[in-house]
Amino acid sequence: MALLNILHFPDPRLRTVAKAVVEFDENLRQLVSDMFETMYEAPGIGLAATQVDRHIRLLVMDVSDGRNQPLCLINPQIISSDGDEEMDEGCLSVPGYYEKVRRAEYIRVRAQNEFGDTREFAARGLEAVCIQHEMDHLEGKLFVDYLSALKRNRIRNKLIKAQKQQAD
Ligand code: NI
Repeated sequence: MALLNILHFPDPRLRTVAKAVVEFDENLRQLVSDMFETMYEAPGIGLAATQVDRHIRLLVMDVSDGRNQPLCLINPQIISSDGDEEMDEGCLSVPGYYEKVRRAEYIRVRAQNEFGDTREFAARGLEAVCIQHEMDHLEGKLFVDYLSALKRNRIRNKLIKAQKQQAD
């Protein structure tokens, strides 16, 4: 087990489009396990492989109150969506900032698990929002992209400043 380094906005590596997972081997399962450890430790409710500089279509999440319902989605696809809702979102790659983002309220998802088995399920509310947020990461997209340029640049500049201070 190992904690992974999480990339912070505006790191250009967060803009990478992830490739499909084709090999479901021990290396993949080790990465899944390390990503869960990193996510729980942060703590966060979701983490995409992009955020730990691994550019494959893999995300982990757990939106349960007890932090005991781990969900690993590989090569996820949204096959239908309905409704819309606005929720405050944050991101481990944009630490300290929470902003409202509008997304689909109900989604139907098809994804594989770490053994390559495919399943389909419905999600709503926070779970649906989290899946959409993490899937955006796999496309190189961040929640701040939904904000105005003014707001996004303000967050960007503050994070750059914070990263410089940490490096000093
Ligand atoms: Ni995020």
